[in-house]
Amino acid sequence: MLRATKQLILSALASFPPTRRAIEAIAYREMRNRPPRAYTERKLLPAVVGAVPVRVLYVGCASYTLRYLRYLTAHHVDCWTIDLDPMKAKWGVKGRHIIGDITQADTLFAPAHFDWVIMTGILGWGVDSVPAVELSISSVANIIRPGGTLLLGWNRRSSHAIPDPMELTITGERFRLIERIPFESPPFYPVYDHLRRA
Ligand SMILES: C[S@@+](CC[C@H](N)C(=O)[O-])C[C@H]1O[C@@H](n2cnc3c(N)ncnc32)[C@H](O)[C@@H]1O
Repeated sequence: MLRATKQLILSALASFPPTRRAIEAIAYREMRNRPPRAYTERKLLPAVVGAVPVRVLYVGCASYTLRYLRYLTAHHVDCWTIDLDPMKAKWGVKGRHIIGDITQADTLFAPAHFDWVIMTGILGWGVDSVPAVELSISSVANIIRPGGTLLLGWNRRSSHAIPDPMELTITGERFRLIERIPFESPPFYPVYDHLRRA
């Protein structure tokens, strides 16, 4: 209840550009030293930029992810965003944001449209059941070109934990695991899997 009230207040404040910028800066400062975030900034995003020209879909937006998107677009990455929650559109890429469900991504984007999809904090944060996880993986596979990359972040612990997605048949059918990066950071103990589209 308290959490929902806090979210509502933050959303209302974020409608005004000056408070939006302040919220963004505070949220970003709070998150930036967490190991998965440091990895995202120092390794992942530079790797995406190194592959320019490249078209990327960033799944799930928050105040603290806006800097990632600015970094990508400033480096000529054709960056798109998607989030189910209409309130998150303000943290997406202007003119390139879709309010939609990632489990239906292949009805929203053309086949093989993206070189990269970055999907962290989605499985276990809205896409929770095994059928929904399977649907999102198969749907995302359809919109990544063969040889393209899915960066899939998921959590091993806490109420947001999900079973290892690599154990699902659909993941092995559509992707090859290139690298697994387990972070030993509480409370979520996230894993970032680099998957190559078969
Ligand atoms: C914890 S935030 C993660 C934000 C960001 N991707 C990150 O790594 O920090 C989860 C976001 O996923 C969005 N989300 C949940 N289920 C979704 C779905 N089925 N399709 C698209 N977005 C979804 C939520 O609205 C929320 O904004």
